[in-house]
Amino acid sequence: MKIGREHRKRQVLLIFLLLGVVGAGSEPRRYFVMEETPSGTVLADLVQDLGLGVAELAARGAQVVSEEKESRLQLDLQTGKLILNEKLDREELCGSTEPCVTHFQVLLKKPLEIFQAELRVGDINDHSPEFPEREMAVKIIENSPVGTAFLLKTAQDLDVGNNSVQNYKIGTNSHFHVSIRNRGDGRKYPELVLDKELDREVQAAFRLTLTALDGGSPPRTGTSQIRIVVLDVNDNAPEFAQAFYRVQIPENSPSGSMVAKVSAKDLDTGTNGEVSYSLFHSSQEMSKTFELNALSGEVRLIKTLDFETTPSYELDIEATDGGGLSGKCSVSIQVVDVNDNYPELIISSLTNPIPENSPETEVALFRIRDRDSGENGRTICSIQDGVPFTLEPSVENFYRLVTDGALDREIRAEYNITISVTDLGIPKLTTQHTITVQVSDINDNAPAFTQVSYTMLVHENNSPALHIGTISATDSDSGSNAHITYSLLPAQEPQLALNSLISINADNGQLFALRALDYEALQAFEFHVSATDRGSPALSSQALVRIVVLDDNDNAPFVLYPMQNASAPCTELLPRAAEPGYLVTKVVAVDRDSGQNAWLSFQLLKATEPGLFSVWAHNGEVRTTRLLSERDVPKHRLLLVVKDNGEPPRSASVTLQVLMVDGFSQPYLPLPEVVRDPSHQEGDVLTLYLVIALASVSSLFLLSVLLFVGVRLCRRAREVSLGGCSVPEGHFPGHLVDVSGAGTLSQSYQYEVCLTGDSQSNEFKFLKPVFSGIVDQNYGRQPDDQSFSSVLGM
Ligand SMILES: *[C@@H]1O[C@H](CO)[C@@H](O)[C@H](O)[C@H]1NC(C)=O
Ligand SMILES: *[C@@H]1O[C@H](CO)[C@@H](O)[C@H](O)[C@H]1NC(C)=O
Ligand SMILES: *[C@@H]1O[C@H](CO)[C@@H](O)[C@H](O)[C@H]1NC(C)=O
Repeated sequence: MKIGREHRKRQVLLIFLLLGVVGAGSEPRRYFVMEETPSGTVLADLVQDLGLGVAELAARGAQVVSEEKESRLQLDLQTGKLILNEKLDREELCGSTEPCVTHFQVLLKKPLEIFQAELRVGDINDHSPEFPEREMAVKIIENSPVGTAFLLKTAQDLDVGNNSVQNYKIGTNSHFHVSIRNRGDGRKYPELVLDKELDREVQAAFRLTLTALDGGSPPRTGTSQIRIVVLDVNDNAPEFAQAFYRVQIPENSPSGSMVAKVSAKDLDTGTNGEVSYSLFHSSQEMSKTFELNALSGEVRLIKTLDFETTPSYELDIEATDGGGLSGKCSVSIQVVDVNDNYPELIISSLTNPIPENSPETEVALFRIRDRDSGENGRTICSIQDGVPFTLEPSVENFYRLVTDGALDREIRAEYNITISVTDLGIPKLTTQHTITVQVSDINDNAPAFTQVSYTMLVHENNSPALHIGTISATDSDSGSNAHITYSLLPAQEPQLALNSLISINADNGQLFALRALDYEALQAFEFHVSATDRGSPALSSQALVRIVVLDDNDNAPFVLYPMQNASAPCTELLPRAAEPGYLVTKVVAVDRDSGQNAWLSFQLLKATEPGLFSVWAHNGEVRTTRLLSERDVPKHRLLLVVKDNGEPPRSASVTLQVLMVDGFSQPYLPLPEVVRDPSHQEGDVLTLYLVIALASVSSLFLLSVLLFVGVRLCRRAREVSLGGCSVPEGHFPGHLVDVSGAGTLSQSYQYEVCLTGDSQSNEFKFLKPVFSGIVDQNYGRQPDDQSFSSVLGM
């Protein structure tokens, strides 16, 4: 060590001073030297200290004896001075012992004399404080209270006293300072004192430099690094990124879909920062619906959702760290409606059947419900076209199905009304509901006859209870409204005893004849029938029935002239001078039948003298065919047959007696051709009228006389023959006269029979039958169709 000259002088001075003090008495001589003093430095002058002369020293062989092998001190016998043999290092000599004293003796021989001496070595600040480690770690739990001290390692300084470590310093920082403490032995040690609470989450580590200073001048220093590790305390709860999560999920999301992912952070480390998630306050339904992954914080569906049941969920999720601290968040899950519900139709009331003829009847009242919401739940309701019904919206999704005007069961008795309800969602969902509406019958239709009028043909002489025909009516109503009862209406002609003629089956409209009909009595009759239903009120309608009795050939021809029931046949007079073609007589016959049945033909069956007479087949005129001769017998008997044209034909025979007479002659002349002068026509006409009037009067007179005479004669003397014959009375008897055995004649058949002596010019004007069209005066002609059809009334 280098020490300045000034310093050394001062040291020497100091040593002398000490020696002077030490050398007195028997006390050991004390010497002092600073360490690092260069060798050769004179420590003391023993001559002076021991009071001996230099020569004596040398002579007595003075020597320095020390405990060490090599003496650090050397005695210069020449000068008697004690010289430092080597540079001393206090630390090497004494270490930390203070004061550092080495003992030695000065040994004198002859006489042996020992002087005790000691050398004290002073310290020089030649060492710096030194820490055992370059770095020291200090672990501090965060949140330790302010003022907490942490012991630091001390620095060592080989120097002693003021030169040893006197102070410690750390670099400026916000949290710590160093305080120096004294141990009991006076040594100082440093403590790290917390000035401010630590937060690991703010600063988890500090690095400070600790400086140790000794008391030298200038002080020496030594440094060490302090690494402060802030130990974690679970002082942070997990914290969610959002306190409130709002998610939307379509209700048709499949099970397993992720709903939300929550995440929480914990600023702590280690298990204190390990977060696990759990449902907090979760109902059973929620835990059945959602699954929370404890590690990832994912919320997934484990069940399908139904917006209509639960439109939203509130999940409370708790995050817990390993230290037991927890944080919460809530997740609001809005289920988004999907159009997954078909509209529903709920019938509140249904009127079925509905009566026809009732306008604006409410058939059904129903409600539409769609459990979806929004557009998905809005519905449109309609029915098919072409039915007489309308939908009327009512309050709050209620609809009325009403009839659109009166219905007619007879047109349609049943309607299937399809109500379609469609919502407005995407895709649209449609529900259809069919209401079957029956239309109940009202008696609004009268029975309708199949024909306006019926014409039924019946052959006369029918068997009683003969089924004539059937009338029929239909009723388009149903049930009892269509149950038809037939009946006869009273005849309009009071004389027609309808109820004895016809009966009707009320159920099926069959008409029966109650008794045999007689064409000759009644050719046709009309009556009304009615058909009545059983509705309430009952409706009825009428039809005209016309019964036409068809003629049967049930009447044989009836010979009017000559009367055949006389005991003696009527005798005709025939003048002998009669020309050929002389009209002997005319057989008059009628047939009460009509048509072909009454179309008579005459035939000469037998004659006394065949060939003399001929009968005109169609008019019954009996005429001579040749001139009479004297040889001809005067009395002739002719047998004629009158036959009708019926099928089978009926006939009547006529017996005729002809008596030839002389003198009673009137030649047969055909009607003279009157040549009329047109200029005298008017006078002729007047004359003709006069003649006709006269002839009529005289004819009437003659007829009356003849009738009177005839009747008298016929009654009194039936055998009376000349000049007359039996003449029918003016009237037929009132009761029935049987001619053929089957037919009848009634009073209504009246014939005017006229007989004149002049048979040539006058014919019988005899027939005035009821049906002049049938019994035509012109026998030679077929009755034409027109007249026939007029009979039938067709
Ligand atoms: C050590 O230092 C202190 C003050 O710095 C002083 O009072 C004291 O006298 C000194 N001691 C020595 C032995 O020098
Ligand atoms: C109505 O529907 C029923 C049942 O489907 C069916 O039997 C009936 O014939 C239908 N009626 C009409 C008028 O379509
Ligand atoms: C013949 O018949 C007619 C008519 O029926 C009758 O008036 C007349 O008296 C009858 N004559 C005889 C003789 O029976």
